[in-house]
Amino acid sequence: MPKIKTIYQCQTCGYVSPKWLGRCPDCGEWNGFIEERKGAVTRQPSRDIHQGKSKPRPLSSITSGYEKRASTGSKELDRVLGGGVVSGSVILIGGDPGIGKSTLLLQTLFGLSKVCGPVLYISGEESPEQIKLRSERLSIDSEDIILISETSLESIMHHANKVVPKALVIDSIQTVYTEEVVSAPGSVSQVRDCASKLMLFAKRSGIPVFIVGHVTKEGAIAGPRVLEHIVDTVLYFEGDRGHAYRILRTVKNRFGSTNEIGVFEMSDAGLKEVENPSRIFLYERHVNVSGSTVVASIEGTRPLMVEIQSLVSQSTFGMPRRTAMGVDFNRVNLLVAVLEKRVGLHLGGMDIFVNIVGGLRISEPAIDLGIITAITSSLRDISVSPYVFMFGEVGLSGEVRAVTQAEARLKEGASIGFKQVLLPSGNAGKIKSNYGLEIMGVQTVEECLEIIFH
Ligand code: TYD
Ligand code: MG
Repeated sequence: MPKIKTIYQCQTCGYVSPKWLGRCPDCGEWNGFIEERKGAVTRQPSRDIHQGKSKPRPLSSITSGYEKRASTGSKELDRVLGGGVVSGSVILIGGDPGIGKSTLLLQTLFGLSKVCGPVLYISGEESPEQIKLRSERLSIDSEDIILISETSLESIMHHANKVVPKALVIDSIQTVYTEEVVSAPGSVSQVRDCASKLMLFAKRSGIPVFIVGHVTKEGAIAGPRVLEHIVDTVLYFEGDRGHAYRILRTVKNRFGSTNEIGVFEMSDAGLKEVENPSRIFLYERHVNVSGSTVVASIEGTRPLMVEIQSLVSQSTFGMPRRTAMGVDFNRVNLLVAVLEKRVGLHLGGMDIFVNIVGGLRISEPAIDLGIITAITSSLRDISVSPYVFMFGEVGLSGEVRAVTQAEARLKEGASIGFKQVLLPSGNAGKIKSNYGLEIMGVQTVEECLEIIFH
């Protein structure tokens, strides 16, 4: 019998310690150490290693091959994946509980089964009857969707090899365990080992594998970060549960661009694609209200018009409050400082709230100009014209810097019906067509505010 060694492993970063620790010295996470056993089963080294099946080849002699992609039947998901599901790829989908991961995957499998053939849905969380209930709600019925309620990876592999599906879904990786590792399902070593085995399976068989991963309260995929390194594509399914909109965001993609988003709406009959999100996000906009402005943002390859709202009010506490929803908090603080120093606004004693409408989250600096305008509009209680939109990054000296893909932003704004645009003069000088918009290039924040609130 090989000797069993007990180790303690941080569930957040994978740091290993011989004794239990309250706080991980590596990532600083509290209470993350879990007892795991190493060496309970020794693995025989694969014979392939000794026989040397792989051969060194010069790059020039390799033909790239055409990656085979299948359409999932959902345009949004296809675009997020970079144009469909690549055969043999492993796709990790993370998201809060109840956000709609299982729903999305069931709908995706249905789409795939219609064009490709049988698909396999493995659930460690729900019984086939529960899944049936959901499918009735989604009006999905198919002979080609095969359900298994199973948590042992060895049995899953057995079934998968027998059924030979065109796609495989594991819902979720935290419930699956392999008998080769002693620790409990959901622990770092289980999750990592199961994911690597699924990866191997996908690459050998050419079957795309979708893995559902739970997220921790901090929002990262639970268990180890290493999971994200193993798989080909990482998607986050996010959204506010109070809102019907769900956003599928690419975090990593070996077969396409990252930062791509897909917008869905959760209805009583499942997820529906939102084809023109700009219209939706601006739908409930009240015009002639101070503190609101529209920016043209780019998410991945897609321009998106979003409303930025701000509320500035006299603080009743000694410490004024600053709240940012959907935008980076530090970015808002920085822009507030720019407004104070470069424009001379008095914001020191003010509570400032900034919000992106619709539960969206945007990290692109091109929305800076919109944040600045919304805050100023609320402070002065003057509304921004409903026909104007803007974009541009703001630097510390109050300069407005050029951003990428200006033309795409202009086109989107024009298609929604805007008439004027404020943009960095660095961009304004280079655009080829104005798409029927009145173009106003600005160099500084003051110039921008002067034009809007003259
Ligand atoms: P689910 O896919 O089970 O979420 P996850 O797998 O991410 O935990 O989705 C559950 C939520 O979605 C639940 O709160 C109900 C809601 N829902 C709808 O609003 N409409 C529907 O058609 C379905 C199937 C679910
Ligand atoms: Mg689920």
